[in-house]
Amino acid sequence: MPRKIKKSPVRRGRPPVLRTLPALRGRIARFRSKGETVALVPTMGALHAGHLALVRQARRRAKRVVVSIFVNPAQFAPNEDFASYPRTWAADLAALAEFKVDAVWAPSVAVMYPEGFGTKIAPAGPALAGLDDIYRPHFFQGVATVVAKLLMQVAPDFAMFGEKDFQQLKVVTAMAADLDIPVKIVGVPTVRERDGLALSSRNAYLSASERALAPMLYRTLKECAARLKVGEPVGPTLAAGRGQIERAGFAVDYIEARHAETLAPIAAPKEGPIRLLVAARLGRTRLIDNVAV
Ligand code: PAJ
Repeated sequence: MPRKIKKSPVRRGRPPVLRTLPALRGRIARFRSKGETVALVPTMGALHAGHLALVRQARRRAKRVVVSIFVNPAQFAPNEDFASYPRTWAADLAALAEFKVDAVWAPSVAVMYPEGFGTKIAPAGPALAGLDDIYRPHFFQGVATVVAKLLMQVAPDFAMFGEKDFQQLKVVTAMAADLDIPVKIVGVPTVRERDGLALSSRNAYLSASERALAPMLYRTLKECAARLKVGEPVGPTLAAGRGQIERAGFAVDYIEARHAETLAPIAAPKEGPIRLLVAARLGRTRLIDNVAV
């Protein structure tokens, strides 16, 4: 018989990892029975300082913080990187231990999508804005479905999402409102490397030379934002930005000025507030970024 380890009242070491719905619900019920608030940070793991900024904000908002780690097959197209998506479980748990996270929700694919699973959320509105949805048509349905499930499973007061994935933030906010899910969706500013590159789990795919070029995306967005701020016209400013990125060796999917709330196209700065959004491929890596004007 293995010796029973006495539970310490002091939280230390690895956060509890929950892999079944009864285990998760039991843990959440314990928090709720003490009247404690709960914040959820949904992630696909391969955690970096961007994710940890969400955890930090979650800590500020709620007594208990639950981080989900689930690489969601439903948001990857067959030609995308589900199989090779970085998985750094041990490092992720160590990082979350540092932040004294109260629970890690790590369901298997079979727990999240059991045999016979057949209900999907089809988001419209910001999910059909003509940005990432054009290049990843399956993506926001996969995100909305898994995030709806995570919100039902954890039933948090707050759920944290990064501005880095700006369209995703808008899709999730609209979905929670449309479905009357009683949660406050909180957007967290993008965390960047010193040279401006937005942190992303996919940056691990960049070769050394691609990594050196990558900050150009943010630099260009900042330059375009500065030009729009002083009243330069939207079309030519974005065309110049696109040219600059393409000359550096990126294949640009889009560079767009959109209304920061609705994601509707914007023809003139006065129609703002404006958010500039870009998606571009460098070798086999697709990078996205955005800035406020
Ligand atoms: P993932 O890419 O792991 O990102 C998890 C969360 O971290 C998202 O809300 C994302 O916007 C945020 N994030 C990523 N990089 C960031 C950065 N540099 N600064 C600030 N926040 C950053 O996004 C997903 O997972 C998935 O689509 C998910 C929402 C978990 C649904 O499967």
